[in-house]
Amino acid sequence: MARRTKIYEGKAKILYEGPEPGTIVQYFKDDATAFNAEKKDVIDGKGVLNNRLSEFFMTGLNNIGVPTHFLRRLNMREQLCRSCEIIPLEVIVRNYAAGSLSKRLGIEEGTPLPRPIVEYCYKDDKLGDPLVTEEHIAAFGWASQQDMDDIVSLALRVNDFMSGVMMAVGIRLVDFKIEIGRVYEGDFQRLVVADEISPDSCRLWDIKTGQKLDKDVFRRDLGSLTDAYAEVARRLGIMPESGNGTGPVAVN
Ligand code: TMP
Ligand code: ASP
Repeated sequence: MARRTKIYEGKAKILYEGPEPGTIVQYFKDDATAFNAEKKDVIDGKGVLNNRLSEFFMTGLNNIGVPTHFLRRLNMREQLCRSCEIIPLEVIVRNYAAGSLSKRLGIEEGTPLPRPIVEYCYKDDKLGDPLVTEEHIAAFGWASQQDMDDIVSLALRVNDFMSGVMMAVGIRLVDFKIEIGRVYEGDFQRLVVADEISPDSCRLWDIKTGQKLDKDVFRRDLGSLTDAYAEVARRLGIMPESGNGTGPVAVN
């Protein structure tokens, strides 16, 4: 059997060349990192859970007409996606103060924000993904003004969708990060939601108890990360009532 070509290995995923031109295979690892990989661990079953959760969110977005790179899940750890050129920005949407916003502006975590706030970080691990403004993005040519309009519109549509889906299962979407890719179709380019959407890249709090069900469990040593992610999957009906996501999966 021919060995497939690895395109890129990141902290939580590996990208391989896909079976057809214009496709890639995204493999979800069990590795967890935080604080620019200063804190690292391997968490059994995390990749399987994130593969399924990201499939669930991306499929939902595709279904309501928000374009994503996701085509279909291939197996427990892999999904087939359209290949795209990633814009070097982390696009963050915040509904409640938390994390770096709380630190930077001295706002208590959990404070509702007057409206969703969109922020950008320049994707560069060596620099620790610094916060940048639209001025930097335009001046350095990372994205055009038209791209920025499309990016804000995509980010807010993802926020509406994700907030609603999570609210329906008793979870508050505090904030999240997405990445945006360019897909070329002849002479045209289209922007799509790329990478993954999972509890690795969102803050998810139980509405009643405030319990954290996202990567802050790992960042802040709050208990079992897979239990938290499995709880999100269970509430969304992706997983059977018990198990950590590495076993058989419910069909409905
Ligand atoms: P922050 O409060 O640390 O800036 O994080 C904002 C959101 O972005 C939060 O949902 C976690 C997510 N995030 C990532 O997905 N990757 C990262 O590298 C960082 C720092 C945050
Ligand atoms: N993903 C980033 C890292 O490892 C940071 C984070 O999610 O907290 O290093």
